[in-house]
Amino acid sequence: MPRFFAIPLLFAAMNLSAQTRFNWQAHRGGRGIMPENSLPAFRKSLEIKEVATLELDVVVSKDRQVVVSHEPFFSADFCLAPGGKEIAKGDQKKHNLYQLTYAEIKQYDCGSKGNKAYPEQQKMPVAKPLLGEVLQMAEQYCRDNNRPPVHYNIEIKSSPDGDGTYHPNVTEFSTLVYEVIKQHVPLSRVVLQSFDFRVLKHWHTQYPDVALSALVANLKSAEKNVEELGFTPAIYSPYFKMILDKNAVDKIHGMGMKLVPWTINDVADMRRLKDWGVDGIITDYPNRIAEVR
Ligand code: G3P
Ligand code: CA
Repeated sequence: MPRFFAIPLLFAAMNLSAQTRFNWQAHRGGRGIMPENSLPAFRKSLEIKEVATLELDVVVSKDRQVVVSHEPFFSADFCLAPGGKEIAKGDQKKHNLYQLTYAEIKQYDCGSKGNKAYPEQQKMPVAKPLLGEVLQMAEQYCRDNNRPPVHYNIEIKSSPDGDGTYHPNVTEFSTLVYEVIKQHVPLSRVVLQSFDFRVLKHWHTQYPDVALSALVANLKSAEKNVEELGFTPAIYSPYFKMILDKNAVDKIHGMGMKLVPWTINDVADMRRLKDWGVDGIITDYPNRIAEVR
């Protein structure tokens, strides 16, 4: 076969294999082993061949940059203020990323302190990265290492209470995130997730080409949550303890959604949910995936 036919076919096959294999997701880049939502974490997870998707959270800085962070403030649990200063728990929300420029955000270190909840996590100085930097690094890594293209499960962290204080409104937040994604990766490899159903409703109408995942941490039925959302998302993503048996998995599938529960760190739990037929598993410990087989 001529080379100019073989190469595109090879890339198509690699992309297909990433889409059809079990959807193992590295939660916050794999915070069980590396500082959460950091460039070294995402890079480490890409080295684990079973990882199909990088899960990450985004917030917005004062100068409207999309920053990868779970909280819209610097957590006292694992971040240090500029100069290595400890952050008092009672003061952490004053270190508000939406009130800081990205140049100021970069002065904080969210890796050297470690995280007591994840004792295996490697300690190293890391700054919260930009979404664009993460996407660029991951795309480059896959190309350089002949890795199947990775997928991204990107969570917009917002709530009605935080509008204007911790983040912009849904429309502005969404526009900023969409523009960064579009610049770096094909939309076919992106899922946009949120607990904030306002965000999902907005993307459903504004960006119908992006697959959506409804994050759920409540005790309402799937039918009730979907009714409140007003449409059936591609993916239903509940806290894993809400999936009690195989019937629960079959029910979600019967409603026309994939099921990707979070956050499963125990190998026995991973095996059980995989056996029941979930479509993916979000874990802090991508290094444990190999034990599941
Ligand atoms: O992807 C789901 C999961 O990330 C939701 O939990 O709080 O870690 O963002 P959280
Ligand atoms: Ca998340």
